[in-house]
Amino acid sequence: MSANPLLEARGIDAFYGASHVLRGVDFHVGRGETVSLLGRNGMGKTTLLRTLMGLVPARGGDIRFDGEDIKGRRPSAVARAGVGFVPEGRGIFPNLSVEENLIFAEREGPDGRRDWTRGAIYQLFPRLLERRANWGNQLSGGEQQMLTIGRALMSNPTLLMVDEATEGLAPMVRDDIWRTLRLIAERGVAIVVVDKNLDDLKKLCRRHVILVKGEVVFDGPTEELSARDDFVRSQLGL
Ligand SMILES: Nc1ncnc2c1ncn2[C@@H]1O[C@H](COP(=O)(O)OP(=O)(O)OP(=O)(O)O)[C@@H](O)[C@H]1O
Ligand SMILES: [Mg+2]
Repeated sequence: MSANPLLEARGIDAFYGASHVLRGVDFHVGRGETVSLLGRNGMGKTTLLRTLMGLVPARGGDIRFDGEDIKGRRPSAVARAGVGFVPEGRGIFPNLSVEENLIFAEREGPDGRRDWTRGAIYQLFPRLLERRANWGNQLSGGEQQMLTIGRALMSNPTLLMVDEATEGLAPMVRDDIWRTLRLIAERGVAIVVVDKNLDDLKKLCRRHVILVKGEVVFDGPTEELSARDDFVRSQLGL
């Protein structure tokens, strides 16, 4: 681990009612680092992202982001600290235009940066420029996903957490999303991505974390993930 990670969570426990979903999870992300979060259905990937974001309370452990203690903070405060979240199932305003969706999400970054303007988002997703006057509910699934990512970027995050962004999309649209995530990473934004496609994750991410029943069973670089292919595939049920 680098001496001063951007995000550092230690010993995180999380519950839904009596059900103990995260069990002492350690998870860190360096500045500008790309990390995948893997695991079969129901292993706790979404819950970990939601806990880091402050949407699910963390019991036990601590969470630091950019040197600040963010455990117990509200999601809006976590976002202000520099964490952008692209939730599973998309989260755009259906009755606003593409342009309005972006405008409403606009905010300077934690260090006053305003790198991600509407122009920058349209450059990243030319399709959104073509559709900028359309309402959210008039967009295809892929376009909605692009807009969700665009919205998250409009707050100039230093870390972007993306949950299942390619699920249910046509192969060409998926490729578009992966290509865009690589461009975002090249701009220095740290990325945590949850997805089912191991090959695409290996191309984007330098490090990979596998969760099994709310516990980390693997945390290592792409080379190690490839070297331990049998173990990895059995943990992922592939
Ligand atoms: N709102 C909720 N209330 C109660 N239990 C929940 C809730 N959300 C998730 N769970 C349970 O918590 C566990 C972890 O779920 P989570 O959604 O984090 O898994 P996941 O790894 O993201 O799975 P998937 O790959 O299906 O998205 C599962 O057993 C799930 O059934
Ligand atoms: Mg999930």
